[in-house]
Amino acid sequence: MHKQELTIIVQSIIASNTVDEHVKCAQNLSGFYSKIAVIDRDVNNETFVKGGVALSSSGAADCVDDYLRTIYFIKGIYKALIKLSNDFPERSINVLYAGCGPYATLILPLLTLFNKDRINAILLDINISSIASVRQILSVTGLNDYSLQLIEADAVTYIKPQEFTIDLAISETMHYGLTREPQVAITRNIVSQLPAHGILIPEEIRIDFAYTFFDYEPSLSTKNKVKGYNQMQPYPHKVFVDRLFTISKELFADREHDLKLESNFYNLPADFSNYPDVCIFTEIKIFEDIELKTAESYITNPYCVVSIYSLAEYAEIQLIYDFSDMPKWSYDVKMATN
Ligand SMILES: C[S@@+](CC[C@H](N)C(=O)[O-])C[C@H]1O[C@@H](n2cnc3c(N)ncnc32)[C@H](O)[C@@H]1O
Repeated sequence: MHKQELTIIVQSIIASNTVDEHVKCAQNLSGFYSKIAVIDRDVNNETFVKGGVALSSSGAADCVDDYLRTIYFIKGIYKALIKLSNDFPERSINVLYAGCGPYATLILPLLTLFNKDRINAILLDINISSIASVRQILSVTGLNDYSLQLIEADAVTYIKPQEFTIDLAISETMHYGLTREPQVAITRNIVSQLPAHGILIPEEIRIDFAYTFFDYEPSLSTKNKVKGYNQMQPYPHKVFVDRLFTISKELFADREHDLKLESNFYNLPADFSNYPDVCIFTEIKIFEDIELKTAESYITNPYCVVSIYSLAEYAEIQLIYDFSDMPKWSYDVKMATN
């Protein structure tokens, strides 16, 4: 009965076309999990790893309520699974899901749309209670006859079994501005184990530098009623400066030892009254045409690095992203040369 209900919900997710439909489907999925999962909300099992903080089981469960994030990731992963099924009709598809949380939100609903011999998955989480929760949900829904390995491990250092060729790697372990959570450290580790044909989801996390008035950015508006979605217009005086980098399979191809990404130096504006803040903007290409734009999700909200008012005597700025430990942004500045 639960399996049938989940199948109907995921079919409606795949078919949904408008924001209202996306939100409704995500609410149905969230309600489904709340009904069948057993999570101890009083336990804070947040865990620090080299590369960021792994959310508690309770915090990770709540990610399902970041509505457009959840729907777009599920749609993107479905599309990637269909592509891989067509590319490899003779064998099952190997999926590595790093940071599955207590609901395995981004893959578990999709299992119902595939025959059990088509998917072979490793589901990782650092929190044992999240792994226990996924096991319980698989059992309640009758999806425990799929070929799934549930593993308690740190995805920053995890090494896949030799015979397991990853066709699809999924990780959504991300906080806005790539701060706090270990998305980049995990991606770097997974990408090093991905074959040429392997698909990474998200395919791209695009990190842009812009000057804006951070307080006027719509993501900070209290009028925002729909969780994870903002219909207000972006702040009109925002100035795009440059794309700093894109987290992708390609980025780490020749940088597998880098734990720091440094930008060029950019001129600071002389008149910045309309856009006094140095900010990071994020867009995510989940797979092919499925994208999460700025502030459509909690994880694509902008992040303010520094106010230009505090840099008045400087002429140039460089932004530095360091994910060797707790991921963070810093900056370097240069005086004017005259
Ligand atoms: C933002 S939550 C997302 C949960 C779920 N994947 C979703 O999309 O709804 C991230 C999950 O990744 C797990 N996680 C974070 N860092 C991890 C690491 N280094 N190794 C294994 N799991 C990790 C957290 O414990 C948490 O369950």
